[in-house]
Amino acid sequence: MPGPGRSCPVAYRHRPEELAGPPAFACTTLYVVGGLYGNAHALEAVVARAAAEPSPPEIVFNGDFHYLDTDPGLFAAVEAGVHAHRATRGNVEYALTADDDTVGCGCDYPDYVADTVVAGSNLVVEQLRTVPDDRARARLAALPHQLTANVGGHRVGIVHGDPESLAGWRLALEAVDPPDERARAVTGFTGPATTSETVVDWCRRAGVSVLCCTHTGLPYAQDHTADGVRYLVVNNGCAGLPNFSGMRCGILTRLSVDPHPPDDGLYGITLDGLRVDAVPARYGHDRWHADFLRCWPPGSAAHANYAARIEEGTWLTVDHATRGTVTAGPGVS
Ligand SMILES: [Fe+2]
Repeated sequence: MPGPGRSCPVAYRHRPEELAGPPAFACTTLYVVGGLYGNAHALEAVVARAAAEPSPPEIVFNGDFHYLDTDPGLFAAVEAGVHAHRATRGNVEYALTADDDTVGCGCDYPDYVADTVVAGSNLVVEQLRTVPDDRARARLAALPHQLTANVGGHRVGIVHGDPESLAGWRLALEAVDPPDERARAVTGFTGPATTSETVVDWCRRAGVSVLCCTHTGLPYAQDHTADGVRYLVVNNGCAGLPNFSGMRCGILTRLSVDPHPPDDGLYGITLDGLRVDAVPARYGHDRWHADFLRCWPPGSAAHANYAARIEEGTWLTVDHATRGTVTAGPGVS
């Protein structure tokens, strides 16, 4: 049933061909950081990791960098940190800038996500809407919804949800074929599934070999081959929340012409000379937990939706995220 949090505004709709133009920039190493969720410590961890690279990477925060940061100081820290780099909009940033207050959190949650989760998410964004000033709103409104980057000659499409919608769910772990049965059972996924043919068609129309996304919460990487050409989808899950069982760290996607898997890489692949890895954003649980509780104490909407994940992670293991011919990295102990 459409309604706040489940609606898909016309402004969300995209075509993969919109990624097919000239790249927005070129680089040799790129970080794609989705779903920071207002975790300023994860942002600091990403920037610190970037500073330790042999050559400075470009960083793209691909949406939902705000969300749980209803404390004005926290919001300002995230806003300043993100805009020191490149950014694209997520549904949260859309909801903060749209005149349409029926959009709710803007997540376009599918039917299989519980009404209680959707209602909580709407309440979070309703509170967050009171935080940004006009300048911040204007900055967020000016962000692109997606972009294409050139990483060492490889075209990389960066979206928030999927190439057809800002808040699309078709690249969710539970949605993609072949099925991850545990993901489908835990989420209650109801189809249609996203086939390899669809992913390849998107990549061809976008003129990219890699699609980076976030939005749907659970990370994975999966390669596809068609007519001898290889393609890759990397969903980074959340940079600002734990993603795996027993691991209190966010995840970001690192793409580089450097062929060596990073020491902290959790899983990755070399795709025609481009190295792509999921690496941790080690933000320090206690600091983030304290920020979270200050903004969202027990009984609040976000506490109900996120406290358990922040404390305990998810059910997901790295094995679930390592799909196709992607392999576990040296960072898996
Ligand atoms: Fe999102």
